[in-house]
Amino acid sequence: MKKKLFILAAVCMALSMVGCGNDSSKEVTTSSAQSSSSASVISVNTSSGGMIAYAAEGAEIKFDEDFPTQSLQFPGTDGAKFVLEAKVNPEKEGVQFIKWKKDGSDYSTDAKITITVSGNAEYYAVIEDPNAEFEGSYDYLVLVNKTHKLPDDWEQNVVLEEATNRYGEKYKVERKALEQFLKLQKELADEGIYIELDSTTRSVAEQQKLWDDWTVEKGEDYVKKYVAVPGYSEHHTGLAIDVCLDKDGKRIDDNDDMIAEKEIFAKVHEKLAKYGFILRYLEGKDAETGYSYEPWHFRYINDPDKAKEIMDKGITLEEYLGALN
Ligand code: DAL
Ligand code: ZN
Repeated sequence: MKKKLFILAAVCMALSMVGCGNDSSKEVTTSSAQSSSSASVISVNTSSGGMIAYAAEGAEIKFDEDFPTQSLQFPGTDGAKFVLEAKVNPEKEGVQFIKWKKDGSDYSTDAKITITVSGNAEYYAVIEDPNAEFEGSYDYLVLVNKTHKLPDDWEQNVVLEEATNRYGEKYKVERKALEQFLKLQKELADEGIYIELDSTTRSVAEQQKLWDDWTVEKGEDYVKKYVAVPGYSEHHTGLAIDVCLDKDGKRIDDNDDMIAEKEIFAKVHEKLAKYGFILRYLEGKDAETGYSYEPWHFRYINDPDKAKEIMDKGITLEEYLGALN
């Protein structure tokens, strides 16, 4: 169920016939009364709470630098003004985040916009209030394993957010998964247990690199037990989080060292379901999951009740979904 409380505007940036090629300095005809800057690379039309913009093919849209902020104001359905703040790469397929400032009479905040590029450079966007509860429009129970590939349209739909761990490393995680992970992490920290992001969303290319590096380091037999073939890794979904432990100020991220931390992980696993996570690769379930025990790999399924059922029964996602081969 989508819970976007403030779907205020739809944006369609269609290709302009003016200015072709990849020259990012190309200008396009400004067709909006509000938009008059010669430095702009897009033009803007406002219409009934929405906005239509035309971009030159291949143009880099530098809203914040080249486009006068003023020109990008447009009314939301509640009469509030929106100001586009960040930039969008019109050549990039998929979902992008750009920032909008909502500056209404009742409140002022930052909101986010998701731009989905489809077809021949048409852009559609939905503005959301950042305080609205986010519910991705994808299947949080998606099964990705040795026989189930990542769905083709997954990467262009999934909404990822970036987080930085205590070691200063940046990771991308699906938006709700990250929100819940941070709560889990805090509850554990309050009890003196420190889990940290260690590996999260991986592209197919990154998975390939991992596969190759580990094959050199550990050998192919080991790799097959712990690393998915690129394209078949749950880490492509954004819903998988590998953690490491920070114990007595020391990072514990080696597989064998983490497996040895039974007591700590038992306490961590007890709390997973409360935040909508399950332990994905259970001990003694290699035949069902295709992988060895990974106490560090959590999978977000966005439903604490289902997660509790899965964890209480000690079953795999494959068993829960009736998808054993
Ligand atoms: N470690 C899990 C199986 C992966 O590589 O996706
Ligand atoms: Zn993992």
